[in-house]
Amino acid sequence: MKLLVTGGLGFIGSNFVRYMLNKYPDYRIINLDKMTYAGNPANLADIADNPHYSFVRGDIIDVQLVEKLIGEGCDAVVNFAAETHVDRSIADAGGFITTDVYGTFVLLEAARRHKIKRFIQISTDEVYGEAESEPCTENAPLNPKSPYAASKAGADRLAFSYWATYQLPVIITRCSNNYGPYQYPEKMIPLFVTNALEDKPLPVYGDGQNTRDWIYVLEHNAAIDLLLHSSGLDGEVFNIGSGGEYSILQIAGIILKVLGKTDRLICLVKDRPGHVRRHAVNTDKIRRVLNWQSQISFEQELEKTIRWYQNNRSWWEPIKSGSYREYYRTHYGVEL
Ligand code: NAD
Ligand code: DAU
Repeated sequence: MKLLVTGGLGFIGSNFVRYMLNKYPDYRIINLDKMTYAGNPANLADIADNPHYSFVRGDIIDVQLVEKLIGEGCDAVVNFAAETHVDRSIADAGGFITTDVYGTFVLLEAARRHKIKRFIQISTDEVYGEAESEPCTENAPLNPKSPYAASKAGADRLAFSYWATYQLPVIITRCSNNYGPYQYPEKMIPLFVTNALEDKPLPVYGDGQNTRDWIYVLEHNAAIDLLLHSSGLDGEVFNIGSGGEYSILQIAGIILKVLGKTDRLICLVKDRPGHVRRHAVNTDKIRRVLNWQSQISFEQELEKTIRWYQNNRSWWEPIKSGSYREYYRTHYGVEL
């Protein structure tokens, strides 16, 4: 199989590329990534010389480039490329609309022209907005609460429309919060771990009681792999999640305990505007259809993830300098 992966230098995409090349050494993987602040070649340094892997630096909104890459005998597309940080979308939404919505359109158009056999649109559980009393099923209404979530909802429904209108074999995934190695340290878990390692405050939004369903990134990768190789599921949406719901304060507490740091590093700060109180997804459908379900204990895998950041300072220290410090000062109002 020849696979075009977009956004493969980011957190989930880089873990996915490595997972796929390990599992299917004969596949060819083309990684199209713009190398935004979140796209980091170090995430795939270990496979850069693999002859079955090639990297193309470019933008998914570049019609000619996308047309060329998909037209060169590509069998399937997995679209991870996106602007992904909710806080950045609140500060400046434009780039989210351009990449997440228009970029997805460019990929779908080329996929349609070249009769791609499978197009996986990596959407997100953020498209549902608040999960009220029950975790959201795939039929729950979409009520995205941030510009990021709204742009992902646009792309999600655009992908569906390419199946409904043109029979492009699209599958849409809505996964919950991922954690694991190589996550850019603007997201809560790597931010808190790396701040704690440097004895710096952990900025907890609001009262710290907001909850998310946390899934280990390689479990998410495995679910995408199953969907990529499935048949008869065109146009379908699948939630992916672990069912492990934890609040911000619970996670901050685990991180500090594992690292042997004081709770006094917890610092309650101004809340995120439109902050979703609870994200939670019902994963009955993927269990029923593909026999996939999360098997991993959050607390055990979180501890391994914390140790990964502890043991890989050379990965994150260069990131948390330069323009990152500028971002931190502007966003949190303090020096890092
Ligand atoms: P990330 O921010 O770590 O990586 C995004 C990657 O996309 C980067 O490598 C970046 O350079 C690349 N990119 C951005 N704009 C691009 C463009 N215009 N053209 C080409 N490449 C571009 O993101 P992530 O956390 O790995 O998320 C990957 C995907 O999974 C996103 O679509 C996101 O919405 C979705 N998702 C993420 C989570 C999560 O918890 N992180 C959960 C559910 C869904
Ligand atoms: O639900 C899936 C989504 O998960 C993905 O679609 C997004 O791309 C991904 O970024 C993530 O979104 P969140 O907003 O949930 O992730 P984040 O790590 O930014 O925040 C997790 C929780 O932690 C949330 O309740 C906000 C809180 N938080 C976050 C930061 C950055 C803090 O309390 N302090 C912080 O400094």
